[in-house]
Amino acid sequence: MLQPDYGFGPESTHMRSDAKKSVEPVAADLERVDQEDAASDPSGSDDAGIAAPSGAYATIGDITARDPVMTVRAGEVFYGESQALIDINLDIGRHEVVAMIGPSGCGKSTFLRCLNRMNDTIESARVTGEFLLHGENIYAKKSDVVSLRARVGMVFQKPNPFPKSIYENVAYGPRIHGLAVSRAEMDDVVYGSLERAGLIDEVRDRLDEPGTGLSGGQQQRLCIARTIAVNPEVILMDEPCSALDPIATAKIEDLIDELSQNYAIAIVTHSMHQAARVSQRTAYFHLGRLIEVGPTDKIFTNPVHRLTEDYVTGRFG
Ligand SMILES: Nc1ncnc2c1ncn2[C@@H]1O[C@H](COP(=O)(O)OP(=O)(O)OP(=O)(O)O)[C@@H](O)[C@H]1O
Ligand SMILES: [Mg+2]
Repeated sequence: MLQPDYGFGPESTHMRSDAKKSVEPVAADLERVDQEDAASDPSGSDDAGIAAPSGAYATIGDITARDPVMTVRAGEVFYGESQALIDINLDIGRHEVVAMIGPSGCGKSTFLRCLNRMNDTIESARVTGEFLLHGENIYAKKSDVVSLRARVGMVFQKPNPFPKSIYENVAYGPRIHGLAVSRAEMDDVVYGSLERAGLIDEVRDRLDEPGTGLSGGQQQRLCIARTIAVNPEVILMDEPCSALDPIATAKIEDLIDELSQNYAIAIVTHSMHQAARVSQRTAYFHLGRLIEVGPTDKIFTNPVHRLTEDYVTGRFG
């Protein structure tokens, strides 16, 4: 079978064919998760120690980042009785883009939402394990969710500008966080953020017009400008280009590349080509488990687990 070419050079069309594929029956393993282990809820603890993975399964590949900003250990999520994430262990590092891939429903968005406590807004969701930002437990009682969401910003699939002017969309965050005092300071933040988001030339003369009046791709860049205006350390993106045309997508991808110079970025994408273009590391999720993680070119051209191979070669998902 011809393998898809994700642009990693001539050899990229040849998947390694030796017999080192792991063939764990992942679906069946879901039944065997020790509920008692999973139920230990450290959310009230300020202890930033890192727990050992529970050992129910082991993610293939190096889960660590060279310069970790976020560290997840034994991360698990339940929606009511049903478990959506199982023993997730992964670092997100500074100056890197990590792509999250996997079939629909495997838990990519759930994982991303854990990283800035967006799951708090879902009543049935219960998160256990350790989610650390620079070693501090973001689920600790003393952790302030508003400032957490400024430090760990999120860009959604559907651009969601506030029903305010373009200027106010960007100024809102810096204002509530007290990042700009005078109008001149705020202008600097707003113009600078729009510039870094690659939007300023298109909106310079219409900053007072509603953000919702922009095109989809412009709105998404406005949302990115809004996110970076508060100087986050991490940017989470959940399929940020899925509603955009190829030109708008290319602009966002260029932007992601540029932003990775300063931030740690985690992006969920259904486009394997996009993952290949923008990320340095790729994490493959399957039925709530993080099956394999590694350098993006390796995941796409020489994955270890059969499930990863099936997905990246288009046999599954
Ligand atoms: N608010 C919710 N309430 C209950 N179950 C949920 C909720 N959100 C997600 N789930 C369940 O959790 C699992 C993981 O869902 P999630 O949205 O994280 O998957 P995903 O990998 O992002 O999928 P997609 O690629 O379709 O966006 C699914 O079984 C889903 O049905
Ligand atoms: Mg999703």
